[in-house]
Amino acid sequence: MVDKKNNITINNRLNIQMLKELLKKPALYTTGEKKIWDDPHISKQMLKYHLNPDQHLASRKPETIERTVNWLFSHLGLIPGMEVADLGCGPGLYCTRFYQKGLRVTGIDFSLNSINYAQDYARKHGFNIKYIYQNYLELDYQEKFDIIILIYYDFGVLSLADQKHLLKKIYQALKPGGYFVFDVTTPSMRKGVGGENKNWELQEEGFWQPAPYLMLYEQFHYAEENVYLDQYLIVDQGGQIKIFRIWESNYTPASIRQLLNEAGFVTQEVWGDLQGSPFNKDSVSIGVVAHKTD
Ligand SMILES: C[S@@+](CC[C@H](N)C(=O)[O-])C[C@H]1O[C@@H](n2cnc3c(N)ncnc32)[C@H](O)[C@@H]1O
Repeated sequence: MVDKKNNITINNRLNIQMLKELLKKPALYTTGEKKIWDDPHISKQMLKYHLNPDQHLASRKPETIERTVNWLFSHLGLIPGMEVADLGCGPGLYCTRFYQKGLRVTGIDFSLNSINYAQDYARKHGFNIKYIYQNYLELDYQEKFDIIILIYYDFGVLSLADQKHLLKKIYQALKPGGYFVFDVTTPSMRKGVGGENKNWELQEEGFWQPAPYLMLYEQFHYAEENVYLDQYLIVDQGGQIKIFRIWESNYTPASIRQLLNEAGFVTQEVWGDLQGSPFNKDSVSIGVVAHKTD
């Protein structure tokens, strides 16, 4: 049955009023479709992106991942037997490398497709890695991990309330002396392409759907909060619509430090990335190493 609520036609005519409403700038952190990462079609496209070594759309390129893991080992003095959790582990590209270097590894992700791939890969190779299909906002560990990672700007996708909630959960889950390592974007990331802009695309089939669709894209800027929204309105042949919203908070070293301090992380290092590049005023990202000192 067609759900009329999500249909852009009324009596076989385009509902212009509804379209106008849908294309208005939404309030900060308004959610869209619940499923992006776990949508059966989209998650298959994402997995392809994760596993393509020539792209860095869903995961970074293999050589970058390698450098990140090596840098974390040397910089943090990681030793075999330590416990790491990878939040939003995708197909396990970091988990596999940490495991091969002797760590005990837990990967958590709410894309079933990626978790299934990661589990199969570990089984085939005889890797004893624990993969959990779970929303990491529901993380519930007490002082279990030496290091927790959240890599590829996923922290900034969350609403401010969820960011604060997750930091508390992570703080609890770390052993005293443990590290939380993650990366976020800075306002320089969208320099030159900032502000508000629009775009559209007509596809026979593509990233968003395996059938024909029209995509109306808008970028919204919430200047005061330093947040961007990428909004994708997808209309299918029958006029059914879906709205996908991907939020991106940008940070300065001061703003990320403040959030971490509120969650109990007293000391943090900020870098230009997670491979040891120094941070400078033109850096598009911040690689953060937060330390649970008590
Ligand atoms: C941009 S990808 C990065 C994957 C991996 N960290 C990497 O760099 O290869 C984001 C991943 O986080 C997962 N993810 C996003 N939000 C999540 C949540 N709330 N709970 C669990 N997994 C989540 C997605 O399913 C996806 O696999």
